[in-house]
Amino acid sequence: MRDDYLNRQIIERVLSSVRALFPMDGSGHGFDHVLRVYHMATRIAEEEGCDVFIVSLAALLHDVGDHKLTADGNENHRNAIFALLNETGVTDDQTHQIIDIVEKVSFKGNGVDDAPMSAEGCCVRDADRLDAMGSIGIARAFAYGALKGRPMFDDGQKPALHENFSDYKNSKSHTINHFYEKLLLLKDRMETDAGKRLAQGRHAMLEAFLSEFLLEWKAQK
Ligand code: ADP
Ligand code: NI
Repeated sequence: MRDDYLNRQIIERVLSSVRALFPMDGSGHGFDHVLRVYHMATRIAEEEGCDVFIVSLAALLHDVGDHKLTADGNENHRNAIFALLNETGVTDDQTHQIIDIVEKVSFKGNGVDDAPMSAEGCCVRDADRLDAMGSIGIARAFAYGALKGRPMFDDGQKPALHENFSDYKNSKSHTINHFYEKLLLLKDRMETDAGKRLAQGRHAMLEAFLSEFLLEWKAQK
């Protein structure tokens, strides 16, 4: 009981520190994304019988220091995670479990296999990916594309195979390609039962959106 109470306090503390690290954001990677991933990941963890404490902290911290959000490299942010967890009383072993998840959570390219994860990591990764699908996923893709100055669509530019992270990261392609290069592939990369189940409807939403978008695009010619 006491552990539960202390763990709750640690989660609250990390949550408010992360809220402060994610100010107003127009890229689809704001604190609202962090909260959705946190709630979804804990829901999946309960269903999977995983360690909800590890999953909660890893979900809250999963985008801290992400390459998409930082200009100054990831090192300072990673150090910030260490410092934060250290001062909240999280053990070294728990900290390493959490850092391992944060480092492996991101999609690295359609030609790159996902790194093997702990069961807790799978809950966080599936939750993060569910938020890149469905109607919110569509909104986030266009928000991020706009931030990077990418066109919505260019039918002369076909989707690419990214065999390494740097090709994926440095791609300047339009946002519709991102659907074929990542979003439509996520359904088959889900690892938890809940993730696989929830991905069905969100995948169908991506497909419905794409076919409608392409029809409207053609009609304007
Ligand atoms: P990951 O760490 O796997 O990239 P995140 O939640 O940190 O997951 O960020 C993924 C979000 O960023 C998705 O909603 C995705 O649509 C958006 N995104 C990433 N790359 C692109 C891109 N090239 N074009 C449009 N959106 C992108
Ligand atoms: Ni994320």
